[in-house]
Amino acid sequence: MMRFWSCLGALLALFSHISWAQSRHGLLPLPAEMHWGQGRLNLRTPLKLQFDTPPDPAVAAAARRMLARLQGPAEPAKGPVLQIRYGRAGQPEKLDEERYSLRVTPMGVSIDAPTSLGVLRALATLEQLPIIEKKQRYLPEVDIQDQPRFAWRGLLIDAARHFMPVAVIKRNLDGMAAVKLNVLHWHLTDDQGFRIESKVFPRLQTVGSTDGLFYTQAEVREVVAYAAARGIRVVPELDMPSHTTSWIVAYPRLASNDSVYAPYQKWRTTNVAIDPTRETTYTFLDSLLTEMTGLFPDPYFHAGGDENDGRNWRRTPRIVAYMKANKMVKADGKTVDKHQLQTYFNRRVLALLQQRGKTMIGWDEILGPDLPKEVVIQSWRGKKGLSDAAKLGHPVLLSNGYYLDLNYSAASSYLTDPLPADTSLTPAEQKLVLGGEAAMWAEFADSTVLDSRIWPRAAAVAERLWSAQAATQDVADMYRRLNLLSPQLETLGLRHRRAPELLLRQMAGTASVLPLRTLAEVVEPVKEYKRHFQGYDYTTASVLNRLADAAPSESEVARRFAVLVDSVVAFKPTSPNWLPASLRQLAALRAQAIRWQANDIMLQPLLAANPSLTEYGPLSTRLAAVATVVLERLTQLQTGKSPSLAWLAATRATLDAAQAPAGQAELAVVKAARKLAGL
Ligand code: ACM
Repeated sequence: MMRFWSCLGALLALFSHISWAQSRHGLLPLPAEMHWGQGRLNLRTPLKLQFDTPPDPAVAAAARRMLARLQGPAEPAKGPVLQIRYGRAGQPEKLDEERYSLRVTPMGVSIDAPTSLGVLRALATLEQLPIIEKKQRYLPEVDIQDQPRFAWRGLLIDAARHFMPVAVIKRNLDGMAAVKLNVLHWHLTDDQGFRIESKVFPRLQTVGSTDGLFYTQAEVREVVAYAAARGIRVVPELDMPSHTTSWIVAYPRLASNDSVYAPYQKWRTTNVAIDPTRETTYTFLDSLLTEMTGLFPDPYFHAGGDENDGRNWRRTPRIVAYMKANKMVKADGKTVDKHQLQTYFNRRVLALLQQRGKTMIGWDEILGPDLPKEVVIQSWRGKKGLSDAAKLGHPVLLSNGYYLDLNYSAASSYLTDPLPADTSLTPAEQKLVLGGEAAMWAEFADSTVLDSRIWPRAAAVAERLWSAQAATQDVADMYRRLNLLSPQLETLGLRHRRAPELLLRQMAGTASVLPLRTLAEVVEPVKEYKRHFQGYDYTTASVLNRLADAAPSESEVARRFAVLVDSVVAFKPTSPNWLPASLRQLAALRAQAIRWQANDIMLQPLLAANPSLTEYGPLSTRLAAVATVVLERLTQLQTGKSPSLAWLAATRATLDAAQAPAGQAELAVVKAARKLAGL
């Protein structure tokens, strides 16, 4: 049967002049232009690396790394050549050109680029090209011309809430390079921890972090160099004036009031802010920023600015008096306006950064008419933040829609465009849109599960920011390529698939992991920030090793189930009309539902025996109930019987109940089951 389908695919490809490689390639992000040929280059004979002129060591190292992964460590003396030519060393910090062309013929491979950055991007593309057929690996013949749509394609990693060791950062940089993300936004400080060594103010890292974990300055330099070798910039964030409990714990003189602060061990926003009215605050920042800006060669520096409701300032008579004396009041002339005080603070920080040659970035809360135009605004609260800032003349970055920690689907990020077709921005304002950043906040991600919360979904953001808008409308094809990419990312050292599996094995102990995996595969952690509000009081000490942590942010099994349901409901439910293809889909759905139905009885003893799993018992029971509904509905469809009103009512009740979360996780198959049931 498979043979029949693949022959049919080949025939269709032939008639539409689409090569096999063209319809099945795994390139992500999609290149700007691809022209596929019919030839191929067999990788049985290793490629020989050849540069036109002596290369930059980082480029030569990147080419060798890629070739080692592609074909092993052998460096052949002869054979087909990987020829690399480029014009000059690229300057990522100047958002330099990343354009390249990549040509594969049966005779060899060539890469041409104006800068070394283009070569790095071409190597990432080349590594995704191999196809396997009849147990042989080939590079398909292709001519690729490629360039990014946006110059700024970032990933924020929050290393403050949970500390992320250097090895974790490095493997994520490798993942970024593979999908052409080019900015690591390193969120280094927050209420719960100050994660970068200051030699001037050492209490920041030794007292400010609840667990005492931080990056030494040598480690920071190591990460910056590792990133640079991959064409990735590192933009540090020191978040202020709020999100600074760790600073104030270490240096109480920064506080806005006379409270004594203990290290903050919970997750919710504190609205604690440093005092913007005292000169000593700026003396402190002057020294700290001299030290910190010196560690990062990138010209951009993120100063945070988010989530300060001003309560710390409004409740301190001395600060209120300062605001009144300086006319920081609302239109009524009386009520103090914390936004004006924060703008004053921003201007002072901006001046300190500018003295050190840095361009300041801030979260969208800092926007206001008095904010100097050179400050880059990162929009996270809504799309409007982006257009408001661009209309006021600020360069902008989009992160709203790209928050990986909200556990939304890859599709939802993919369909979020910094410059949608119906944008209200003028061409000049559109030029201010530098790009965007996926954001991985780490309240619910420690170094074990971090990768699985980032990958593979961040790759959907990478494609949105790299590839042409018109070429990226096909969500199903994005998922097809995401699934090809995901195992490739693990060969780079990422642990997004292995780590959750190990957690499950740990939970299963000596029992078989299979039934637990069957449940975990169709469960997702609750979306948005609901995890904070479902009866479990998380602190920095909470261990993230429960089923909610092993469950994927987006269940691939549930997604495939939904795709099958979509195709089945697209047919009329009268059996004579079923096509062979839809019969196959019905059979696949039935097999899946039978597995789920049978799973509960195998899993319940394990859930009951392990106290940390007991809370998931209801999810297993509900999955079996959903499976029963699915099986009943499939029988109705195949026999052409309409569901009774009683069945519909009972099914609605079953599915409503099945949607309820347990253990901060929920079943990801209920929506599709509803659709199948016609509800
Ligand atoms: C943010 O998510 N508070 C920037």
